[in-house]
Amino acid sequence: MQIKKLFLQNFRNYEKETFAFSDGLNVLFGKNAQGKTNCAEAVFYLCTGASLRIRHDKQLVKIGAESAKITAEAENRYGRVTIEADIFENKREIRVNGTKITKNADLMGHINSVFFSPGELRLIQDGPDERRRFMNISISQTSPAYYTALLRYNKILDQRNALLKNSDYSLVLDTLPVWDEQLCKYAATVVKKRAEFLDKLAPYAKELHAYLTDGAEELVVRPDKKYEGDEDEIAKTLLRRLSNNYDKDLRLGFTTVGPHRDDLDVLISGVDAKAYASQGQTRTAALSMKLAEVRIFKDLSGEYPILVLDDVMSELDLPRRKKLLQRIHGIQTILTCTHAERVLYGTECNKIRIEGGRIKE
Ligand SMILES: Nc1ncnc2c1ncn2[C@@H]1O[C@H](COP(=O)(O)OP(=O)(O)O)[C@@H](O)[C@H]1O
Ligand SMILES: [Mg+2]
Repeated sequence: MQIKKLFLQNFRNYEKETFAFSDGLNVLFGKNAQGKTNCAEAVFYLCTGASLRIRHDKQLVKIGAESAKITAEAENRYGRVTIEADIFENKREIRVNGTKITKNADLMGHINSVFFSPGELRLIQDGPDERRRFMNISISQTSPAYYTALLRYNKILDQRNALLKNSDYSLVLDTLPVWDEQLCKYAATVVKKRAEFLDKLAPYAKELHAYLTDGAEELVVRPDKKYEGDEDEIAKTLLRRLSNNYDKDLRLGFTTVGPHRDDLDVLISGVDAKAYASQGQTRTAALSMKLAEVRIFKDLSGEYPILVLDDVMSELDLPRRKKLLQRIHGIQTILTCTHAERVLYGTECNKIRIEGGRIKE
């Protein structure tokens, strides 16, 4: 899929600009704090309905303006698609081909993107939250069923956690099994789809990491917990684990088992990357995982997602930059950097200079 045009109005530091993207490599360049990442963020927002950096849409609206507008014209395997978002302080409206969508699940999948920025090191260095977020965003874009199951799971989980704080123990013990039956149904979908995702991701990530490091390192990505069987069996396993932990959950006042606690292990050449990897190794591993995500999208939908590489080049050494450029050939990419010449080595591309929230001809 390709994004052809992106229109921004009162979005972040943009007043009114239209970006025309080519099918291959697009390079947004310019000094710091000019609006390169903001543009990348707008693309991501239209793909996922979520912001990259913030929780409140309000910050996306240009200071002093009442609302922001982002419109993208894109093409996917089904034809042309237009996505528009109007963002207000406390609400937003998103339309796909003119039709207002009522839930985020209906936005997912029209334009898929994979986003990589230096902050993505968190994927490996930070706690499990980041890795679950990675899986959630990635899987949701190709599986509305996953996204819906995840939302329902989280909702019931909140209710279960509220119940665990209730001081009426007999009420709690009577009610828990009712919640748990429901909870495990959605949990099983989440667990199963994550396992399928990681089964596909792991070999690609391993291959890409080996490619970027000239075979010097081996990357292993795998789920931290084992679940056997189909969704029914997973649900049963979880139900058992939940009931085994009633005492602990009651004592702590929250649910201690389930996919909201699951993680994935990332190993580089046999050792836990989170604990032992250097910055450079971590960066390459995170990049490999993201490029693996690109391939999964391609396998699942038959077309590449839009790859957004924010400020990535400056963090890579020269051989890795060149390898990266080779590997993304044929994938529509939006790449931001401060000095286009220094990172491109003559690679053919559509260069767009950004200055103070404007495109400079
Ligand atoms: N809501 C907003 N209204 C106006 N300016 C904003 C808003 N949000 C961010 N900015 C400005 O955008 C600039 C940062 O843009 P960014 O895209 O992150 O820069 P870079 O080109 O370095 O990637 C900063 O000057 C910041 O003040
Ligand atoms: Mg930036």
